[in-house]
Amino acid sequence: MKLFTAKNELGAYISEIRNQGRSIGFVPTMGALHQGHVSLIKKARQENDIVVCSIFVNPLQFNNTEDLKKYPRTLTEDLTILEPAGCDAVFYPKVGEMYPDEVTEKYTFNHLDKVMEGKFRPGHFDGVAVVVNRLFNMVLPHRAYFGLKDYQQIAIVKSMMLQTGSTVELVPCPIIREVDGLAMSSRNVRLSPEARNLAPFIYQTLQWGKQQLGTASPAEVTKKVIDRFKLHPEFEPEYFEIVDSETLLPVETFDSSNPPMACIAVWLDQVRLIDNLVYEA
Ligand code: PAF
Repeated sequence: MKLFTAKNELGAYISEIRNQGRSIGFVPTMGALHQGHVSLIKKARQENDIVVCSIFVNPLQFNNTEDLKKYPRTLTEDLTILEPAGCDAVFYPKVGEMYPDEVTEKYTFNHLDKVMEGKFRPGHFDGVAVVVNRLFNMVLPHRAYFGLKDYQQIAIVKSMMLQTGSTVELVPCPIIREVDGLAMSSRNVRLSPEARNLAPFIYQTLQWGKQQLGTASPAEVTKKVIDRFKLHPEFEPEYFEIVDSETLLPVETFDSSNPPMACIAVWLDQVRLIDNLVYEA
């Protein structure tokens, strides 16, 4: 497996692959890899000749400096995970390599970056769009693989791609869960053992909310779900919303022909966790 830190060296490798007519699958990450990332690499492996993974903790997408400081950085372990998963090349740039000059790109997401994550993490999605576009321009992938845990991120990346005229094929991949249902996340390692034991309550509550939809409206279910977290005051829910899967705006009625997404963000043990579930009948 090759490791590149400089974009010109990565560029030479990518040109060679492209000149040979081989396809490139790309998995952008911020490192601290887990089985969720491995599932993306494996899918990219099946569908492409070459798999490139980036590891870059993107400062532009952190609206909270403490969160940026605490973000786990585990390059040595990450490399040992990537090679057996089928990754051919890793791009691990420094901040100055990605952002040598002032960042001037501007995208317009209308309401997509104002709701849910966007409401609580101002500027986050601008940072995601900038870095993903820059990475796409460096890696020149045919396909790029994103986990559905960051459901809103996928909507933002799709919008950025429309605005830039990108021809990359975006491949959304299912959430990978621990056996107790907790969605895999690089942040899970920051949970204390007690908090880790409590954390599956998030997914259990998403599932519980789905069962309530038979007898309650989306607005009522939303209230019930938020109230349910009072059973465990260790959780501080930031938002829970039942939204249209395309517009990401709250739905007023349940329509089984267009199942909504239930999206949640909660704080637990000073760690912010997100999850989502399709509310299909
Ligand atoms: O989902 C992530 O890990 C990040 O937001 C991404 C897509 C790698 C951009 O920094």
